[in-house]
Amino acid sequence: MKSSELNENKTAPSKSPQREGQSPSEEQEGNRRVAIITGAGTGMGFEEAKAVAAKGFHTIMACHHPDRAEAKRLEIVSETGNENVEVMGIDLADLSSVRRFADEVKARFQHLDLLMNNAGTLATKFQRTKDGLEQTVQVNYVGPYLLTRLLLPLMREGSRIVNMVSLTYRIGHLDFPYFFTSGRKGSFWRIPIYSNTKLALTLFTFDLANRLKDKGITVNAADPWIVSTNIIRMHSFIDPLTDIFFRPLIHTPRQGADTAIHLLLDEDKASQTGTFNRSNRIVNVGEKFYRHKQMQELWDATEALVRKFL
Ligand SMILES: NC(=O)c1ccc[n+]([C@@H]2O[C@H](COP(=O)([O-])OP(=O)(O)OC[C@H]3O[C@@H](n4cnc5c(N)ncnc54)[C@H](OP(=O)(O)O)[C@@H]3O)[C@@H](O)[C@H]2O)c1
Repeated sequence: MKSSELNENKTAPSKSPQREGQSPSEEQEGNRRVAIITGAGTGMGFEEAKAVAAKGFHTIMACHHPDRAEAKRLEIVSETGNENVEVMGIDLADLSSVRRFADEVKARFQHLDLLMNNAGTLATKFQRTKDGLEQTVQVNYVGPYLLTRLLLPLMREGSRIVNMVSLTYRIGHLDFPYFFTSGRKGSFWRIPIYSNTKLALTLFTFDLANRLKDKGITVNAADPWIVSTNIIRMHSFIDPLTDIFFRPLIHTPRQGADTAIHLLLDEDKASQTGTFNRSNRIVNVGEKFYRHKQMQELWDATEALVRKFL
């Protein structure tokens, strides 16, 4: 695929389904700034959604459990005064759900300004998704890849994509084809699999940034460090101890989300692309990652996996 084709719109615009509490005339204006944050009902995603809503964006909270996220939406509306905050359901572990979500967004909005690929998981046991992939790999990497690919036609000069990565990318390995189907070669081991997904998302960030650099669409990675959210639960006897001794020492969700929020909103980051960021600074991750030897193979293998949903 040629880079120039990446954000061509192949889907004909369809009629907007009207949603409760929204004015179709506003949506048809075409000049509303629109942001999508995945995993916005909890942890750092909630903080990111609140920050973009406070800046006046029409904010789409893309959530796995939309019912649970409704109370968080109301909290954002009340704290920011922005009524244009909505929850839409998406299951990143189901590629047809990702496609449905993207189709609805494309039908209702003419452009997309911000895409925050924030959602992630750290599965405790091996689970195969209905698409035949390992769960953590699909939620953390393949699902966000497909979502981004499908939404690219809505993006224009000035649109920003931010991917939530992790310092664990450094210990990640991509053993194809096991990476997609079992997370790694060998038996299930949750931290290495998670690390592999964050390596893949980091490489996708650099690769896509390069492919989009002539279009003025930026792509950057944010590493939040270690943050007190649900995802770090070990699901074992150690949890109450870590809650007492460890959690007070690590970042709050707002602190963890800070780097991503700056990448999404800061004026001086408007043309920054292809970077890895921590504590609001660009981290030089080295040529080994910027020009990773498996970058092209990863892109090609992922394209082949998601092709029928594009
Ligand atoms: N906490 C850390 O120390 C840390 C460090 C580095 C990177 N990160 C990354 O930061 C991001 C945000 O995590 P967090 O720390 O804020 O934890 P979190 O509160 O557990 O957030 C994870 C979010 O992902 C959503 N999600 C999980 N499975 C999904 C699926 N199948 N489809 C759609 N959404 C799904 C969850 O929704 P439900 O709860 O509704 O399932 C939740 O909203 C993740 O990508 C994580 O890997 C976290």
